[in-house]
Order: sequence, then C-alpha cells, then structure tokens
Amino acid sequence: MKKLNIALIGFGTAGRGFYEAWQQIGTARFNIHGVAVKDGEKVRNGLHVNVTTDVLALINDPAVDVVVEATGNVKEAKLWYEATIKNRQLFVTANKQLVSQLSGFGNQNLLYEASCGGALPIVRLLETCFPHGISSIRGVLNGSTNYILTRIFVDGFSFNDGLLIAKEAGFVEADERLDLDGGDPATKLRILCRHAFGIRLHADDVSVFPLFGFNDVDVKFIRRNNLAVRYIATAALDEGKVVARVAPELVAEEHPFAKVLNEENAVSIIDKGGESYFFKAKGAGKQPTGTALFNDLEAWSQGFRYKKRKLAKAKSSPEISEVIVRTVVDFRDQLTAETIESWIEGGFRFYRLRCYLHELAQIAVVESGEACVFVLSKELSRQRFKPESVLSIEH
Ligand code: NDP
Ligand code: HSE
Repeated sequence: MKKLNIALIGFGTAGRGFYEAWQQIGTARFNIHGVAVKDGEKVRNGLHVNVTTDVLALINDPAVDVVVEATGNVKEAKLWYEATIKNRQLFVTANKQLVSQLSGFGNQNLLYEASCGGALPIVRLLETCFPHGISSIRGVLNGSTNYILTRIFVDGFSFNDGLLIAKEAGFVEADERLDLDGGDPATKLRILCRHAFGIRLHADDVSVFPLFGFNDVDVKFIRRNNLAVRYIATAALDEGKVVARVAPELVAEEHPFAKVLNEENAVSIIDKGGESYFFKAKGAGKQPTGTALFNDLEAWSQGFRYKKRKLAKAKSSPEISEVIVRTVVDFRDQLTAETIESWIEGGFRFYRLRCYLHELAQIAVVESGEACVFVLSKELSRQRFKPESVLSIEH
C-alpha cells in the first residue's frame, strides 16, 4: 500500500512529539515529506527531513496527502487549512484556537484530538460512546495550571516557580495568559460542547475565572482541610440551555479530580441516563500531544470521521455571580440570605473564595483558621451581595 505523505507544520513541543511518534511507530505506513517552521536557521537535533519556511509551498506540493499543523498560529493556520480543503488533503491539528474559530462541521478531512486533553481521546469518545446523549461534562483541561497547582500544594513551590518549570517542560502556551486566565481550557470546553451537545458556544458564553495565586494561609487552609484546588471547566445542559464556566474549585482530596496530578487532564461525563464516566491521561507535553496527533492519522486511515452535524447556537449565557462569605463553624445546609446579610452588616472579615449562584454551590468558608462547608441555595438573591470570590467545593 502507498505510504501517505505528511507535511508537518511546526517543530516545537507538539511538532517534535509527532515526529518522534512517527519515528517510533509510523514509518511503515507514513512518510514525512517535509517540515515547515518559522526560523529556517534554528538547529533542530534529530530532525532528518527537509525543512522549509515556505509553508504553503509545502502544503501545495502535489505529493502531500496529509498536513499536520502544530504551530499555535491562528491567522496563517486558517489559510493553510483552506489550502488543504482545496487540495483535498487531511488536516490534523493541535491548534484549539484555530478549531474554535472554524464554523460548523462537515469537513470529513479534519481531525483535532490533540487540541483538547492531550493524550486523552476525549473528542473521539464524545463522538462514539454516548448515543443517549450527555447532560454534563466537567474536566481538568489545562495541563500547565494543573502542573502548577500540583507543585504548589504537593511540593510547596511558589506559583511563579511552578510556572517556570511548566514552561521549561513545554506545557505553557506561547501566550501564558491563555493558560493562567482560563482562555485555553475555555476554548477546549467550547470545542467539546460541539461534540457533547451539538451546540456552538462563543467565547462570551463561557464564564471564565482566572487562576489566582495562593498565599501561605490559603495553602495551609486547603491542606489542613484535606482539600485540593483544581482548575475545572464545566458545561451542563440545564433545561435545554448550556451553562458553561471555567473556574478554580476546591475538591475533597478523595475526589477523582484531586488525583489528577501534574500535567494530567481528566474529564468526567454524566450521560442522559445518569451514568457517570471518568477519563484521565497526560494533557500536555511532547509525548502526549505527539501521540494524539499521530492517533488522528491512524484513526482517519481506519475510516474514522467526525459526524456531520449542524451546530445549534448557544441558547443562553450563564449567569454567574459571586458572594462574600465569612467563616462560621457549622451552618451546613442552613445558610440563608439573611444569615449572610447579617454577617456583612456585622462587618465580618471575608475570605477570598468564589461561588456560583446559578446553581446549588458548595462553599468553603474560612476565618481565623476555622473552616466549614455550606450548601448555598439558588434562593439567595444575587443582588444582595457584593462580589468578592468564593471557591465551590465538590466531594
Ligand atoms: P512551540 O512554540 O513549542 O512550537 C511552535 C512551532 O511552530 C515552532 O517550531 C515554530 O517554528 C512553528 N511556527 C510558529 N509559527 C509559524 C509559522 N507562521 N510558520 C511556520 N512555522 C511556525 O508550540 P507548541 O508545540 O507548544 O504548540 C503548538 C500548538 O500545539 C499550539 O496550538 C498549542 O496550543 C498546541 N498544543 C500544545 C501542547 C503542548 O503541550 N505544548 C499540547 C496540546 C496542544 P520555529 O521553531 O522556527 O520557531
Ligand atoms: N497549554 C496547554 C495546557 C497545552 O497547558 O494544557 C495543551 O493543550
């Protein structure tokens, strides 16, 4: 059988990862025809294929059957993608920003598993494993921030030191704000919503709360209470509407998300029959991303395509509000709007945590080292409280 000829665009973390996966497992069926990069002068150890900086010339080479895009560039990548449509080539990409901007579905020559969840084959799972439909999807979708959180809470590192190592490992986007402010997991969540719900969310449809720093008091409180912080992306169907957010949350240490460590990603799904599923794998870095890119190639060769579907527009933006809460010893299940108001009027000191009033939210509240968990009900009117920040807790 004829080997498929690949044009690899980008030779950084993801591109090199793909190249190495190909060297290990792909040379019998695939040939890398050329590699395109930005800087033609850079020394690239271990690369034994023609290198060019003329990306379009490489893509338009009639010998090329497949384009693997691993640059992170959005504007140019759109042009490259369009060229592959014209040339009837397969386009495999790790570029979630690009994918989130492509409208609609229907191109049977486009796969992008590496764009969401690294080695976690989450897009393929959503496409193939939930015929009854999905009611919610929750996930740790960003490897860099999960890596930083692990270093802070397991090893006692500072936020900045954790970030530095994550950068050295190649997990962090060229624009680190995308990871730290939640743009990256929000983009991934929007892509997953297309496959989970058939709904197209715009960036504004997702409430995104940046990952904030943690001081010594935060770390001690969270550890002492057997909790962990995870940066979680959530999307759920609520009476036909999608409620979506990305936020730092507290989870109990026995919760599966608390066991998602380092650059790992995880996704928890509840289907419409109420069954729950949990998937975990490395979410960033050379090897997981390269493998995900390579797996798309394999899957396509075996006939896998994303379903053709018309995407519906998001039916609503989530309403998210925040509330300041004080520490009380044990008001479990008894928290009322009046109670909180009385605390506020009483001038109590409030702790920087975050919660969501559009749904039942569990909240950890702390003051003077004391902590407890509440259930805050929908009835609490959002107008009555000035936002600060409250973390929700999941057990
Ligand atoms: P890097 O910065 O490590 O590498 C980018 C590569 O793309 C470099 O080789 C660069 O060339 C090349 N490049 C950039 N712009 C152009 C251009 N205009 N023309 C030709 N080549 C270009 O990025 P990553 O590998 O980390 O990320 C690439 C993509 O993969 C992004 O979309 C990212 O979100 C995604 N991704 C990354 C993961 C990771 O763990 N790093 C995981 C999953 C997805 P040069 O070497 O000459 O500078
Ligand atoms: N910057 C991304 C992350 C890379 O940290 O998850 C993987 O998509």
